[in-house]
Amino acid sequence: MTTASTITVKKGGNPFGAHRVLEPKGGLPQPAVRLDNGMDHLHDNEILVNVNTLNIDSASFTQIKGEAGGDEEKIKASILKIVEERGKMQNPVTGSGGMFYGRVAKIGPALAGRIDLKEGDKIASLVSLSLTPLKIEKILGIKKGTEQVNVVAKAILFESGIYAKLPADMPEKLALAILDVAGAPAQTAKLVRPNQVVAIIGAGGKSGILCAYEARKIAGVAGLVVGLEYSREACGKVKAYGFCHHVIQADATDALDCHKKLMEATGDREADVVINCVNIPNTEMASILMCRDQGIVYFFSMATSFTKAALGAEGVGKDITMLVGNGYTRHHADTTLNILRESPEIRDAYEKQFA
Ligand SMILES: NC(=O)c1ccc[n+]([C@@H]2O[C@H](COP(=O)([O-])OP(=O)(O)OC[C@H]3O[C@@H](n4cnc5c(N)ncnc54)[C@H](OP(=O)(O)O)[C@@H]3O)[C@@H](O)[C@H]2O)c1
Repeated sequence: MTTASTITVKKGGNPFGAHRVLEPKGGLPQPAVRLDNGMDHLHDNEILVNVNTLNIDSASFTQIKGEAGGDEEKIKASILKIVEERGKMQNPVTGSGGMFYGRVAKIGPALAGRIDLKEGDKIASLVSLSLTPLKIEKILGIKKGTEQVNVVAKAILFESGIYAKLPADMPEKLALAILDVAGAPAQTAKLVRPNQVVAIIGAGGKSGILCAYEARKIAGVAGLVVGLEYSREACGKVKAYGFCHHVIQADATDALDCHKKLMEATGDREADVVINCVNIPNTEMASILMCRDQGIVYFFSMATSFTKAALGAEGVGKDITMLVGNGYTRHHADTTLNILRESPEIRDAYEKQFA
């Protein structure tokens, strides 16, 4: 086992991590097929982290779980195989990753005095596992009802990699779970304007609830927040939170039905902003149809296809702005952690599920 003192430190690492790309040479880590995940060497601008938990992206976890027929041992084997082959946890089907939580083991000397971290600090990565060199020694278990995988592992953060120090006022696993989707509520807060109609697809999921909370806060008394979920149980959950004025039970892959039910709920008003928070493919057309002309669709879902969205919008003659769900927006971690401080309902429920 490598210890922090037996690690060779090299000079000249690329700030974006290109020096760790094995295939194709000369590329960047996210689109790369394979990374160097050797943990016996560290570039002087890298941070080595002892990882405790991986929070696998929901679209990725759903795909792996589906392929494994829900069998936990097969899910573990699949995760280990991906990391063994790629040097990072990037699902080859969805292309997505997730993030990790761990303790800083060593900081490259070139970063000294330039970052607000010290060895031993607990951090969550705010860059995707799909670009993070990762070596798993052992999978300890998967927390039931979540995408959290407890591991003995090491990871590298590049100089450009962002992270959050875990807040002292909430359990680590809770912070990890919500930081994974921090981009969604923070983008919602930037996109929604007072009095607007906002439709949230997958409103009962981890990111959907946080988005509904922000949308309700900003749309205000004359706004209308509509949550869409597939199962009766999830619809009941969305209703119980009370952030959505209307809750629609529909399958987001059935675009015509989603549109019809939105029109019924809003008195024929299409949404000014549609936020897509589902974890399955083929929901682009429901998002597009539910959006008014000149409105905005924010595709947070990692199962979104650029081709389907672009050609689909053109095909139905909708002049709308479609945003790729950049997981990062300025102050996203603080915005999202604050939701847990503001909303005891969300905090209680998320603590039960994730902490
Ligand atoms: N852009 C980024 O940087 C970024 C970062 C993290 C995550 N993501 C992506 O964001 C998405 C949401 O993540 P999350 O953690 O919030 O996922 P989540 O908690 O699994 O929520 C997804 C929700 O969608 C619902 N859903 C599934 N199929 C549906 C259907 N046919 N019609 C309507 N609703 C349906 C699910 O219901 P059931 O539970 O009943 O199936 C669930 O409530 C995922 O695609 C994830 O990969 C993006």
